Amino acid sequence: MPAALVVEKLCKEFGGAAERVAAVRDVSLAVQAGELFTLLGPSGCGKTTTLRLIAGLETASAGRIVFEGQDFTALPPFRRNLGMVFQSYALYPHMRIFENVAYGLRARRTPDAEVRRRVAEVLELVGLSGLGERRPGQLSGGQQQRIALARALVYRPRLLLLDEPLSNLDAKLRVYMREEIRKIQQRAGITTVYVTHDQEEALSISDRLAVMYRGQVVQVGTPAEVYEWPATVGVADFLGRANFLDAWVIGAGGDRVRVRLPSGAALEVRRGDSAWAPGADEAATLFVRPERVRLGAGAPGGAVELPCTVQRCTFLGGIVRYALDIGAGRPVLADAQRLLPGMGVGVSTRLRVDLGDLRAYPGTQRPWGEAA
Ligand SMILES: Nc1ncnc2c1ncn2[C@@H]1O[C@H](COP(=O)(O)OP(=O)(O)O)[C@@H](O)[C@H]1O
Ligand SMILES: [Mg+2]
Repeated sequence: MPAALVVEKLCKEFGGAAERVAAVRDVSLAVQAGELFTLLGPSGCGKTTTLRLIAGLETASAGRIVFEGQDFTALPPFRRNLGMVFQSYALYPHMRIFENVAYGLRARRTPDAEVRRRVAEVLELVGLSGLGERRPGQLSGGQQQRIALARALVYRPRLLLLDEPLSNLDAKLRVYMREEIRKIQQRAGITTVYVTHDQEEALSISDRLAVMYRGQVVQVGTPAEVYEWPATVGVADFLGRANFLDAWVIGAGGDRVRVRLPSGAALEVRRGDSAWAPGADEAATLFVRPERVRLGAGAPGGAVELPCTVQRCTFLGGIVRYALDIGAGRPVLADAQRLLPGMGVGVSTRLRVDLGDLRAYPGTQRPWGEAA
């Protein structure tokens, strides 16, 4: 099936010759029909600019945007048949909810009977039938968010663009509303591009996502793919908690790399970066998620075991996070489901990682936050 939205080598530069900012660099994406596709990345990485280019609110410096076979690149925004929701909902405070939603249809001189039908339909879709007579000030933050969504959907757009739509809500409501948005998006069956800097939000609602960094797409995949198989150390760290261990390459073959740890242990692990051709004696970085690190000695075979000392133990409710000193500078984090008996601070023990949970990356890499 051909993709509904195709973005090809999109570039956007801001400013004059003296102070040029390359906000979007060679971004290529293919979004399937009906898919919820997320642009995820740290603040300033070019997510909003990419979305505004798709909307036609910015003009591309280079590249192409095609939607359902139609070249969007030079098309004015109002000809693109898309709906957009921003961080601020910009509802009209003096108008009733019904009129807020109907506003755009009325401006387009839609007949009154049709306005009524379509507003009723879309209020039903977002689960707010019966609130049409209220004013925005009489609604909760979550309800206002739904109204903003209703206002974008009332035109029956073919494409929905959402830019950090939940950032004005408190933490608990954000979690609830992201699931609501997902349901509404699926009910409407509308192709959607969703922008967020919140990795948990992106992982929880997306069919697929693109991780962006400094104007570029670093990786595209399903939430499970990018979480389990990050393409770079930066992606691994941005998507959740991550441990990084220094190692040396001693051999390679297929999708595997043989490495030696500072402790002297030699192991064979999978390459996280498929483009990497490791050479002998090269530095490498091993990555493993804290929830895959176990404490205490186990049955031998299939796992790497390292001696360690419990440095810190933090009770976080759902999980207990152990910081383990392995003599490498940075501690290794291990997440357990409950407090482990006998694992108090200062206790010497062993940590264990299944070889299948380790990934190797080239060089002594550091996460984005620690980048020079
Ligand atoms: N209108 C503009 N003029 C100049 N620079 C801009 C403009 N809009 C965005 N930028 C710059 O482009 C980069 C990407 O911004 P943006 O797309 O808003 O990032 P994000 O949405 O990921 O936080 C940033 O460095 C930002 O400062
Ligand atoms: Mg933004």
